[in-house]
Amino acid sequence: MNREFADVVRRIKENADIVGVVGSVVPLKKAGNSYKGRCPFHDEKTPSFNVVPSKGIFHCFGCGAGGSVIDFVMRKERLDFKEAVEKLAKELGIEMPQFRPIDRAEADAEQRLIDAVQRANNDALAWFRKNLREGRNPLASEYLPLRGISAEMEEKFQLGAALDEWAALKDHLGKLGYTDQLLVDAGLCVRSESGRVYDRFRHRLIFPIFSANGKVAGFGGRQLVKDDKSAKYINSEETVLYKKSQILYALNWSREDIEKSGYAILCEGYMDVLMAHAHGFTQAVASLGTSLTLQQAKLLKRFANKTFFLYDGDSAGQKAMLRGGESLLEAGFDTRVIALPPADDPDTFLQREGASALGTLLENAGEFFDYALDAHSRGLDLSKLAPQAELADRMAPIINRISNDVMKEGAIARLLRRIGGLPRTALGRILQQSAKAANRPEGEAKGSVPSGSQAISSLFDDMDLLDVYVLKMMVESHGALEYLRANLRHEWIVEKKIEGWIFYFCDHDEYAGTLIDAAEMENEFPADRRILSRVMAWDFPLGDNPLHAAEQILWRLRERYQLRLTNDLLELIAQKQIDSEDAQRLLTAYHLEHRSRITQTRRIFGIEKHSATQPTE
Ligand code: UTP
Ligand code: MN
Repeated sequence: MNREFADVVRRIKENADIVGVVGSVVPLKKAGNSYKGRCPFHDEKTPSFNVVPSKGIFHCFGCGAGGSVIDFVMRKERLDFKEAVEKLAKELGIEMPQFRPIDRAEADAEQRLIDAVQRANNDALAWFRKNLREGRNPLASEYLPLRGISAEMEEKFQLGAALDEWAALKDHLGKLGYTDQLLVDAGLCVRSESGRVYDRFRHRLIFPIFSANGKVAGFGGRQLVKDDKSAKYINSEETVLYKKSQILYALNWSREDIEKSGYAILCEGYMDVLMAHAHGFTQAVASLGTSLTLQQAKLLKRFANKTFFLYDGDSAGQKAMLRGGESLLEAGFDTRVIALPPADDPDTFLQREGASALGTLLENAGEFFDYALDAHSRGLDLSKLAPQAELADRMAPIINRISNDVMKEGAIARLLRRIGGLPRTALGRILQQSAKAANRPEGEAKGSVPSGSQAISSLFDDMDLLDVYVLKMMVESHGALEYLRANLRHEWIVEKKIEGWIFYFCDHDEYAGTLIDAAEMENEFPADRRILSRVMAWDFPLGDNPLHAAEQILWRLRERYQLRLTNDLLELIAQKQIDSEDAQRLLTAYHLEHRSRITQTRRIFGIEKHSATQPTE
């Protein structure tokens, strides 16, 4: 993002009255330096929503919502970053940047293409709809009742029909002034190798695909006559508007109910979504045949924290669920699985068994992790060592994608319970190897962190307070920031949720306040931004000597690190996985200074080696 735009953002933050903006939506009461009220983003009786005007932020300690005045407008008015900036700039009388001519020409061309594709999509939809309504494709009209699609559903989902001709849409839109090239760019037409341009969707039932905010982004089409020469369903190719890894079918119709109920129902296909909605499951969306991407999961996460998988009961559906489930875990979802009979998809199940049967399945839906554990255990004799190791290998990539630390620990415990014999340290190594293989160093196994060092606070529920404190000092005190920057070692930080921010502040030679704007501008760490605002809003006295506090915290971090290494070593020795020389070497390598721990290590070590003799110091 360019400098002028960054400037506008900075000026908005300086000039906007965040108390006024938030206060026009939420009644606020002054309390010390901040204002408190009831959170507009979740239901609550006692106010845990804070606005801190001196820092220009809001934060809810209940649901975690938080950020700048721009974030507030984004969430409240459902705008994207740029739209929210534009709105606030207008209200504050701040002029939006004039782009330099070269940028402007490019930006204009891109925007013109987007606008033109949008218009073509709108006109195409109107034409598809008209075809169906006027019975210009008789097979399509006959098809709807055969599939149990009512007139209401046809209307709600804006169904349409493509004609049994090669270029009917092209001719129609051509008459409206669209060039062949634009129709190709819009994904409505295809250019053959010989250069002929013809309709992508022919003789199909049409399902328009809308973006989350209700704009026609693309189309899907279903065969009306079975023909193995082409696919049963085809979808738009990628266009400037249709990015399939970022779109969820039906989110435009379901987002409100997803937000209200707190959960989404994830199906595979169009018909499943239609039937789910028709039977009252209005939280249903579909990933459309591809396995669910992380981007799709994050899109969904804007609306809910819980997702039910409702995929086909066949083995393809189950496999797709196993793949997609990892994206949901990484996005932080409470992920449940509704298991349908093997021959069913949601459509057939609902039409045969009805809504209440699905409701029962939904109530009894198990957790995705257990489902994956079952699926991967199938066929393994878990009383034997090799299958135990095999299961650990299969589960490692899944566990590594769980972003919530408490959930991750719980998952590890369940896996260990399932396989019984495998030592936890060995599992720690498998997790690490798997994380390395997947090239995500952030997935470093936490299995070896001694549980005693995990301070639990209600504000930072599952986070290690020591690390939270480091970040707090970095954003509050310039002096502490510089000291930590010079002396902190990356491996001392264990808290995955905030280490990104800590390292960011370590690596960028600027003051935190400016960095936050910059990170926001570049849209870095969008998911973690609320953690930052939570830390900023946290009312914790740093004392009058932040430098001294920084020294202290550093000392404790190092101590924790050494303790962890020693504990690892102790466990390895206890499990007889390491011999005396290796242990000695590691001890030296770790530079352990922790006297009592070393003594203890040596003692166990000595007993191991010469069982009856006195350990030597
Ligand atoms: P299914 O094969 O399960 O189809 O594909 P379905 O949803 O049950 O459809 P009906 O009941 O036969 O009409 C699930 C989804 O996968 C995508 C579509 O989005 C479909 O809804 N798909 C399927 C394709 O993109 N292409 C195909 O050829 C098949
Ligand atoms: Mn089906």
